[in-house]
Amino acid sequence: MKREAKDVKVLLSRQFPERGIKILRQEGYGVTVWDKDRPMTQKELIENSRSHTALFCTLSEKIDKVFLDECSHLDIISQFGVGYDNIDIYQATRRGIPVGNTPGVLSDATADVAFGLMISVSRKMGYLHKSILRGDWNYFRPNANLGIELKNKILGLFGLGRIGLEMAKRCRGAYNMEIIYHNRSRNSEAERETGAKYVSFNDLVQSSDVLSVHTSLNQETTGRFDKKVFDMMKPSAIFINTARGQIHNEEDLIHALDNGIIWGAGLDVTNPEPMLPSNRLLSMENVMVLPHIGSATVETRNKMAELAALNIKEFYRGKDIPNLVNPEVLKTG
Ligand code: DGY
Repeated sequence: MKREAKDVKVLLSRQFPERGIKILRQEGYGVTVWDKDRPMTQKELIENSRSHTALFCTLSEKIDKVFLDECSHLDIISQFGVGYDNIDIYQATRRGIPVGNTPGVLSDATADVAFGLMISVSRKMGYLHKSILRGDWNYFRPNANLGIELKNKILGLFGLGRIGLEMAKRCRGAYNMEIIYHNRSRNSEAERETGAKYVSFNDLVQSSDVLSVHTSLNQETTGRFDKKVFDMMKPSAIFINTARGQIHNEEDLIHALDNGIIWGAGLDVTNPEPMLPSNRLLSMENVMVLPHIGSATVETRNKMAELAALNIKEFYRGKDIPNLVNPEVLKTG
């Protein structure tokens, strides 16, 4: 869409890295940043969006039918993040609103977190760090604090896209792990690069020593890891989720950990977020939980902000949106 730069008004739903904001200001757009130390309520988001033409937002903003009914005037929504399960894409498309996101730039950082969680859980690092704080480091005990090793084990990936591939490369390179995966479609590039083998979902669950989730949240994946699935896993298995907390059922996960059905779990995502400090998972020995930091490096967050800004800039310059989530929108317009 072509709109005079002076008429473009972008609302940023919270403080984002300056690099992105600079791109928007350099274009001559009006830029408003929500600068309170809390996210906007949906009511505030709607009210503030009314006087803007574009929204730059992120994963906890609820861009549902209610929002879109009130803000169908928006020219574009640009999501800071690769996942966009907070946005009702169908409803945005119906209203002719293109939605952009920021894939690719966060794959390394997120895979690093999955890899780090795997090692931390296998050696109980988070729990043992906390045990020193409790004054529990008394003397060297040969039979205590034992972890399990990762060398030559099987890594199972639920979802093998960009982030899954980076996790596979790390596990192959560091521990010579065998890679198996289950995905909506085969990923032949990843198969060539890492020797990954495509397996059925049940095979994935039953054979993995480490099962790492790298899929988007959708109808098929919501609640996919429940009691039935945890019951099929190896008692020595580690479950890792850096994708979305709604993909596993937390109560069933706690049950599996309590009863030795699986060995441990590493989570960068929870349901709900934030997790309450009283959550049982936080005091479990073979569990490590992080506050959704997959993409949280200086470099990655800068790139995400630049990409989200670029989606808006290119759109208003009348060019293709570099990362358009709903290309069908071009047909409706
Ligand atoms: C994403 O991009 O979807 C992450 O979860 C947030 O960094």
